[in-house]
Amino acid sequence: MSEPVVVAIDGPSASGKSTVSRLVAKALGYLYVDSGAMYRAITWKVLREGFDVNDREQVVALVHRVKLDFEIVEGAARMRVDGVDPGEAVRAPEVAERVSIVAAVPEVRQVLVAQQRSLTRFGSLVMEGRDIGSVVFPETPFKFYLDADPQVRAQRRAKDYAAMQIATDPNRVAQALAQRDRLDSSRAVAPLQIALGAVVINNSNLTPEQTAQIILDHIRQAGVRRGAMTVTGRQGGGCR
Ligand code: DC
Repeated sequence: MSEPVVVAIDGPSASGKSTVSRLVAKALGYLYVDSGAMYRAITWKVLREGFDVNDREQVVALVHRVKLDFEIVEGAARMRVDGVDPGEAVRAPEVAERVSIVAAVPEVRQVLVAQQRSLTRFGSLVMEGRDIGSVVFPETPFKFYLDADPQVRAQRRAKDYAAMQIATDPNRVAQALAQRDRLDSSRAVAPLQIALGAVVINNSNLTPEQTAQIILDHIRQAGVRRGAMTVTGRQGGGCR
């Protein structure tokens, strides 16, 4: 059997990673993994236990204590914490506003990076995050960095909340996004950065389908050039 292929898709908040990664995963027939949802799930658990996210000792003890496992739902890996899939609760503003603090804790990253790497046991993956191309799978030849202008990203995030019927103040959304980007980019461990060799795509004026197609074209070209049978062989009709 051939080695699993990993497509790493990194970028700041609301840069379109989730929608695009899902489209790419579907076209390739690969498992979709949202690594940000794992950091959110730990943050959700911390809050659910009534802990303060700034209480590092409690956070570290919790991440070592909880049982983490995965179930595959509609082509996506979903992490369960002590047997519970937090589902959409990880999208709530209370979690969104605190997750960068939890994601900056090295022990949390150590545990979750090991979990992320272990997911190749399910086969080839499209994994989105901040450090997938730089830290989690630095050896993958398929690295992409998505970006979009800050106001476009704030509008997208406000739209996400509206779709979930969560009332938000647009200024608060924009501020929270800017604050997250600052924390994610400046933390000491695995900060958000463009991985060496990543293809950078600013998709401010692109649809998710157009962005996904650019990625699929790159993978196809690289696959042909490298003769990567795993990629070309699994594309089916999805990657033109
Ligand atoms: O992609 P997202 O907005 O769901 O990410 C949630 C948080 O987790 C965000 O603060 C960045 C952080 N994160 C990270 O540090 N490393 C990753 N691989 C994915 C997300």
